[in-house]
Amino acid sequence: MKREIVTTGDGSVSIYIPELDEQYHSKHGAINEAVHVFIKMGLHHYAEISGDNNISILEIGFGTGLNAFLTLIESEKQNIHIQYTGVDAYPVTIAETSQLNYPNELKASQVNFNKMHEVPWETLASITPQFSLKKEQLLFAEIKNKNEFDIVYFDAFGSRVHPEMWEETAFATMYNALKKGGILVTYAAKGSARRAMQAVGFKVERLPGPPGKREMLRATKQ
Ligand SMILES: C[S@@+](CC[C@H](N)C(=O)[O-])C[C@H]1O[C@@H](n2cnc3c(N)ncnc32)[C@H](O)[C@@H]1O
Repeated sequence: MKREIVTTGDGSVSIYIPELDEQYHSKHGAINEAVHVFIKMGLHHYAEISGDNNISILEIGFGTGLNAFLTLIESEKQNIHIQYTGVDAYPVTIAETSQLNYPNELKASQVNFNKMHEVPWETLASITPQFSLKKEQLLFAEIKNKNEFDIVYFDAFGSRVHPEMWEETAFATMYNALKKGGILVTYAAKGSARRAMQAVGFKVERLPGPPGKREMLRATKQ
């Protein structure tokens, strides 16, 4: 499928798929959205409630690597160790990643961003002393991890494009992949998604959303 690089409201870029009329991030700002949903409501919250400085994260939809890169930056700032697994069936190409302006916008290391994209898939790679990354090229439906992760960054396409990702079967996979007390965060706030999360055992909170969005969801494995 054809993919285009587009600029979002905060000046950071994203990827747009014309055939699906779907964008990888909010048009109001890719960085703003990712920082709010995944870093502030996800990583910061989990680090605070758990006190852990060794945290494992599963990302559903590695895509541009923006969420992983923001997490790498936080791991240095907060001096925490992160083991990050990013799943994606349709990886972006190096030609595409070279057009992503995140290091520049974030005034962060271009070398680390490039390294994240250049390391091979299916192999655990140390990007920095605090941040290791395993990229797995597989369909979300093929995920089989059990009790392995502290946090799930749930960043699948929206329910209009990918409805099955917002139903019970997909959330049961995420529930199983998390450790007890682990959390899932997502940009979505739909009632049907919230009820599907609750049906598989999650306790779900509605939280203020990123710019342009009233609410988002955080689910905890009890
Ligand atoms: C919303 S985008 C992810 C954005 C990403 N987190 C980022 O920061 O760039 C959704 C991602 O899911 C991937 N994807 C779509 N359908 C999939 C499937 N069935 N299995 C695995 N990956 C899929 C796409 O390739 C895309 O990268």
